[in-house]
Amino acid sequence: MTLVTDVRLRRVLDSRGNPTVEADVRTESGGFGRAKAPSGASTGEYEAIELPVGEAIANAREMAIPRLVGDVYAGNQRDIDAALHAADGTDDFSQIGANSAVAISMAAAKAAADVLGAPLFQHLGGTFRGDTFPTPLGNVVGGGEHAADATHIQEFLAAPIGAPSVEEAVFANAAVHAAVGDLLDEHGVACGKGDEGAWAPSIDDSRAFELVAEAIETVEDEVGFEIGLGLDIAGAELYDDGVYRYGETVRDTDEQIEYVAGLVDEYDLVYVEDPLDEDDFEGYVELTERVGTETLVCGDDLFVTNVDRLERGIEMGAANSILIKPNQIGTLSDTVEAVERARRNGYDPVISHRSGETEDTTIAHLAVATDAPFIKTGAVGGERTAKLNELIRIEHNA
Ligand code: PGA
Ligand code: ZN
Repeated sequence: MTLVTDVRLRRVLDSRGNPTVEADVRTESGGFGRAKAPSGASTGEYEAIELPVGEAIANAREMAIPRLVGDVYAGNQRDIDAALHAADGTDDFSQIGANSAVAISMAAAKAAADVLGAPLFQHLGGTFRGDTFPTPLGNVVGGGEHAADATHIQEFLAAPIGAPSVEEAVFANAAVHAAVGDLLDEHGVACGKGDEGAWAPSIDDSRAFELVAEAIETVEDEVGFEIGLGLDIAGAELYDDGVYRYGETVRDTDEQIEYVAGLVDEYDLVYVEDPLDEDDFEGYVELTERVGTETLVCGDDLFVTNVDRLERGIEMGAANSILIKPNQIGTLSDTVEAVERARRNGYDPVISHRSGETEDTTIAHLAVATDAPFIKTGAVGGERTAKLNELIRIEHNA
């Protein structure tokens, strides 16, 4: 039996040193699950609401926990998540907080898996899950909202699409990260790291393209398989008053589309996330028509893991891929629904971390459970390697 018998919430640290919500769920026959909410910095305007942690915990204790304990089976994920929605009563989790909701939702899934004695990916994906593993996209250079005085483009991503295994792919990304570090060193560019562990040098975007392309080439030669280059432009963060501002350089929407299409050609980009503002579905349609057969055009702030926004994109032909972040929508059920809707319509789902993370590994299991072709969870740093190492363990059946 998996009847929920206890839910506990507490404040713990995230990777930025900020507080976040941790949930423990216990069930009747001794099942136990623990999960933590991540937190974004370049958050989309249409995401579910992250409340201040104290408020999220107090409100969830008052409104959600009484609906769960003794009433809902942890193995019935849709019932757990329906109870969270019913407790909240809004469509954006603004009452109990998406941070409390997602921590409870994920902890309940882990408790149910524990009762079954199955790994989480098996519980979530079921026995008829496919046997593909996600390719990790590794953030190697970045700036934007994740680091001050660095690149305007938020993330330069290594995409080891030719890797024969997750393990090889994970190490290839770490090698590209190290190779970029060496090149920066050689050129006398001192720099720290951004929130996701990517190098955050004070160089312009074109210089970053050169360095990352060179590092990728070096590592490709070493490992002997193809490594592509991807970007998260985080366009909504650059967009201001009708134009995209890259420091002194300003581009209107047509110029931005032209610029991104040019980058796809010049660098053979395999992945471009948030190339435009989060409200510009039309711009996405135009860009997707131009480069959608050559690269993944992925909506993060555009779709915010929300099936209604995804549906609008599908109808219009905006993007061909969706970033999937459970805390953008608040529950695992809503998250999996977005993945399934995407896949049915030919949109590639990319399961993703946030810039503020913890040692929680749920997204590694979610990516395997849903047969997602990609996972974006950094290249180095403890809260990132927690997920990457978990993927390696899953691959090894460990
Ligand atoms: P965030 O950034 O977690 O700060 O929103 C990650 C991303 O934009 O993909
Ligand atoms: Zn993004």
